[in-house]
Amino acid sequence: MRLVFLGFGTVGQGLAELLLAGRDELARRHGLEWTVTGIADTLKGNAYDPAGIDLARALELAGRGDSLAALDRGGHGWDALGMARHAEADVLLAATYTDIRTGEPATSHVRAALGRGVHVVTTNKGPLALHYRELAALADAHGAEFLFEGTVMSGTPVLNLVRETLAGAGILEMQGILNGTTNYILTRMEDGLSYDDALAKAQALGYAEAVPDADVLGWDALAKVTILASVVFGASLEPSDSPCEGITKITAADIARAKAEGKRYKLIGRVWRDGGRVRAEVAPRLVELGQPLAGVMGATNAVAIRTDALGEVTVVGPGAGRAQTGFAMLADLLTIARRRR
Ligand SMILES: NC(=O)c1ccc[n+]([C@@H]2O[C@H](COP(=O)([O-])OP(=O)(O)OC[C@H]3O[C@@H](n4cnc5c(N)ncnc54)[C@H](OP(=O)(O)O)[C@@H]3O)[C@@H](O)[C@H]2O)c1
Repeated sequence: MRLVFLGFGTVGQGLAELLLAGRDELARRHGLEWTVTGIADTLKGNAYDPAGIDLARALELAGRGDSLAALDRGGHGWDALGMARHAEADVLLAATYTDIRTGEPATSHVRAALGRGVHVVTTNKGPLALHYRELAALADAHGAEFLFEGTVMSGTPVLNLVRETLAGAGILEMQGILNGTTNYILTRMEDGLSYDDALAKAQALGYAEAVPDADVLGWDALAKVTILASVVFGASLEPSDSPCEGITKITAADIARAKAEGKRYKLIGRVWRDGGRVRAEVAPRLVELGQPLAGVMGATNAVAIRTDALGEVTVVGPGAGRAQTGFAMLADLLTIARRRR
């Protein structure tokens, strides 16, 4: 399989490390043989070589802060969009940045690749939250796979689990802790920290950005519930269609009161069927301590899936990380390899 990386940051490099470490095993046990024909990254430079780029060397260069352009043998000067449009590739691995309000530049990359029948594996939430139907139809029209496990809970299986293993179980509702940063902050507040101190800790640990709005105002979780609403429930919702409240109004006194009542605040993203409609929301909720979601602490994510056939199934696991999100992309690549056989 000829692979092109768009974005060679945390996630792209995490995937590259897994591909290199598992090379023999992936080929022998899973029939996945790969070569990398392109890497495009704004900061680290662009390289294209249809004969195959030395991926270990690319990791070395990126680690040292040297430009990947040293590995270029194509001479085309393509950036990410150029690679998406023209590179010889079977799979485009899209792990750049997305502006969640516009879905760009990731949506243009995904659209260009799918439109010429190149499979896409992505961790970018924007194209899914805003343009899922259009992109899925484009993939179908061109016989391309479009997979995005890493967009909701990193490598912890949710989308593939629901779409494949739980297909036919009758999914009625999904609700979960879909943002690790806010769950970490709420956990530390329960230890006695103020909101500001807990946020500062999350920033010091690299969980929260310097401008933490996307996490603490609930927008990241909203993008994820919108993806679940579209992909699992077949709804055509945009993030702005659903109510969204973050954790910024929760005080230390609220946390202490909840604790005294045997409850715990969690930022819950929820999607459910309401008569003929699909509804979604993000809001802080008081969860009884005996509930599975109440026991999920720190930066961990979880989703409880209410089904017709099985009752409730809860999945708990990491919601971010270099190897963890790289693994989500590897799992999608293996799905493509399996389907192509
Ligand atoms: N990290 C996680 O645990 C995680 C989990 C789930 C999903 N995701 C999603 O996965 C994506 C990648 O995350 P990350 O953590 O790997 O981010 P990152 O470390 O910032 O890496 C993204 C890389 O893409 C580059 N880039 C940005 N725009 C580009 C463009 N137009 N063309 C080419 N390269 C471009 C960036 O370069 P510059 O630095 O120059 O901008 C950066 O090197 C994001 O959409 C993120 O939301 C991440």
